[in-house]
Amino acid sequence: MENAKERLAQAVKEAEEIVYSYLPAEEGHQKTIFEAMNYSVKAGGKRLRPILMREVYRLFGGQGKEIEPLMAAIEMIHTSSLIHDDLPCMDNDEYRRGKKTTWVAYGYDMAVLAGDALLIYAIETAAKAFAMTPDAAKVGRCIQILSEKTGIYGMIGGQTVDVELTNQPIPKDKLDFIYRLKTGALLQAAMLIGAVLGGAADEDCKIVEDLAGKVGLAFQIQDDILDVTGDASVTGKAAGSDEKNQKTTYVTLEGLSKARKEVEALSAAAIGDLDKLPGNNEFLEQLIRLLVNRER
Ligand code: IPE
Ligand code: IPE
Ligand code: MG
Ligand code: MG
Ligand code: MG
Repeated sequence: MENAKERLAQAVKEAEEIVYSYLPAEEGHQKTIFEAMNYSVKAGGKRLRPILMREVYRLFGGQGKEIEPLMAAIEMIHTSSLIHDDLPCMDNDEYRRGKKTTWVAYGYDMAVLAGDALLIYAIETAAKAFAMTPDAAKVGRCIQILSEKTGIYGMIGGQTVDVELTNQPIPKDKLDFIYRLKTGALLQAAMLIGAVLGGAADEDCKIVEDLAGKVGLAFQIQDDILDVTGDASVTGKAAGSDEKNQKTTYVTLEGLSKARKEVEALSAAAIGDLDKLPGNNEFLEQLIRLLVNRER
């Protein structure tokens, strides 16, 4: 695992270089929006989605640069979801990635605009892959995946039910629905785009989508656990946000120890699915393993 952690640190560095290279220059009359976008993206974060995207791409033999605009795009969309998630009308949080949240640093108005801006700039960025590939149809498919998994049948759909049911008991099946959408969908987009651009067969794309759904559910359950047990200096966000908002979570529903077992079982199942795929990517497997007991 030590080796895996070193590889991860290197992968984070590479992902950041790629993502940052697509950020706008901070100049012109609308400079404030560029600053707010860049502040949020550059604040830090695990960069998990672009890293997973590239490792799945590599699993299927992908070697080109066409993946890079899509890596940047998924991190921009993810960051936009965090900016809006932290707003006072949503989770009302003041720290994210170890820094003040965007609305605290730039005001509500600019935080709403920065979230919107990153969302659509992500598509503008992803479209740059058209000029970098011999197979434009694949890029079109990736932009379709990106949009679907972000939108009403994906992350935004999940956030809708999450916000609407704040303060209310939620049965497990509905909580699963929320998690699969609000968190799972973007992880699915990341991994599925890697598969599609890497040239995976349709049946393998299906396996990747399913396994990413499991990773996503496990990831959100672990996020719930960290909201209770986490150290803010490590997670970069204040603990107790869910309790403050009286959220039903896996931890309130099942308790910590059962929630931990669910994370382990889902991750093990996802790794089992990896074995069904052609090719081998040891780092990808290690990454999924690392998520189980992650502390941030
Ligand atoms: C936080 O995502 C929001 C969830 C979907 C749980 P991450 O835990 O990936 O946040 P960063 O990107 O590392 O800040
Ligand atoms: C949010 O879930 C998932 C998103 C789509 C942003 P949380 O509200 O639990 O995420 P954190 O804990 O604020 O990162
Ligand atoms: Mg939330
Ligand atoms: Mg939140
Ligand atoms: Mg949380």
